Amino acid sequence: TKLTIGLIPADGIGKEVTPAAVAILESLKGPLQFDFINLDAGFEHFQKTGKALPEKTVETLENACDGALFGAVSSPSHRVEGYSSPIVGMRKRLDLYANVRPAISVPSAQNANQTPVDMLIIRENTECLYIKQEKIETDPASSLKVAYATRKISEHASRRCGKVAFESALKRDRLRQSVPLNQRVWKGKPKVTIVHKSNVLSITDGLWRETVRAVANDEKYKNVDVNEQLVDSMVYRMYLEPQAFDVVVAPNMYGDIISDGAAALVGSLGLVPSANVGDKFVLTEPVHGSAPDIAGQNKANPIAAIRSAGLLLEHLGYPDEALSIYNAVDAVIKEGSVLTPDVGGRATTDQVTKAIMDKL
Ligand code: NAI
Ligand code: MG
Repeated sequence: TKLTIGLIPADGIGKEVTPAAVAILESLKGPLQFDFINLDAGFEHFQKTGKALPEKTVETLENACDGALFGAVSSPSHRVEGYSSPIVGMRKRLDLYANVRPAISVPSAQNANQTPVDMLIIRENTECLYIKQEKIETDPASSLKVAYATRKISEHASRRCGKVAFESALKRDRLRQSVPLNQRVWKGKPKVTIVHKSNVLSITDGLWRETVRAVANDEKYKNVDVNEQLVDSMVYRMYLEPQAFDVVVAPNMYGDIISDGAAALVGSLGLVPSANVGDKFVLTEPVHGSAPDIAGQNKANPIAAIRSAGLLLEHLGYPDEALSIYNAVDAVIKEGSVLTPDVGGRATTDQVTKAIMDKL
């Protein structure tokens, strides 16, 4: 079989970690083959051409690719006329409505004191505050500025994201059955934790909470436990007791924040992959950004991007190939001798990639 994969390295370390993921895919043993198509997007591309997300990129993804690997973009913190984050744009254009973010720790000699983590965060990917409907006014009484942002929560988006969470809980439960009980982090029945803040935002988060809860009533999910956690105490509990979570489902912005927190728990943003999934397409990417502080130094941890390549194969229906990537990564983390500085090592991006390749 031949898969056509769109590559969008974009900015900063995205340009270093995407080639690492490609090298791993190319060195997979077995019948699976790849055609890669390089595609433009990002802030650097915007500065050169005035376009952050060229139409050609979206069209090629839609019409010629089975899936895509994205690197990272640098989005400036101040407003830049005509610029808008291409990853947010692609999620919208391709209707990639759920962002699937596994945070899994790998026990090793170096991190013997780390609490084991095996959770899956499902982040709603199309709405919430990230619809970017903002405005600014001047208060006539005080002449001071006032800014507003609209937050959108729809029953439609909440329901389909909720379904991904419950389906994922069942799938994780199936996969866990082959792992000996004493090696599992999550030992109980599958569980979905709904994150919200409907004690304050009773209308928007209230709709989110009720809609996701309603998904649980489906007969298919009768063996999945459901509970809830307010977003602030979610962060607190996740730090004290990450083993208390199996699948966590959250509105867009809460999910964004919680998943960076979960990355810290497993050791580094450089370890955590994600998949943007819709009914017709999947685009995977590391959770991290373009890391301008380390870009261009061959220091970036390629593991998040390499695991993202694994997630891509998993979502395209090649679980065995995905597993071989995950196992090779785990073996390198366990050995601990070839790791980048973010996880306590001294190796370069290329050396870590090579070490993983050797394990395949
Ligand atoms: P960041 O994720 O780029 O970096 C945060 C910290 O983690 C930095 O100290 C960085 O060196 C470290 N780090 C991240 N990835 C690493 C890796 N693979 N290996 C080793 N260390 C790693 O987040 P930050 O600094 O808040 O944002 C930088 C830029 O990235 C901004 O322009 C932001 O808009 C953009 N960004 C893009 C995202 C995307 O493309 N999906 C997501 C998050 C941020
Ligand atoms: Mg983020």
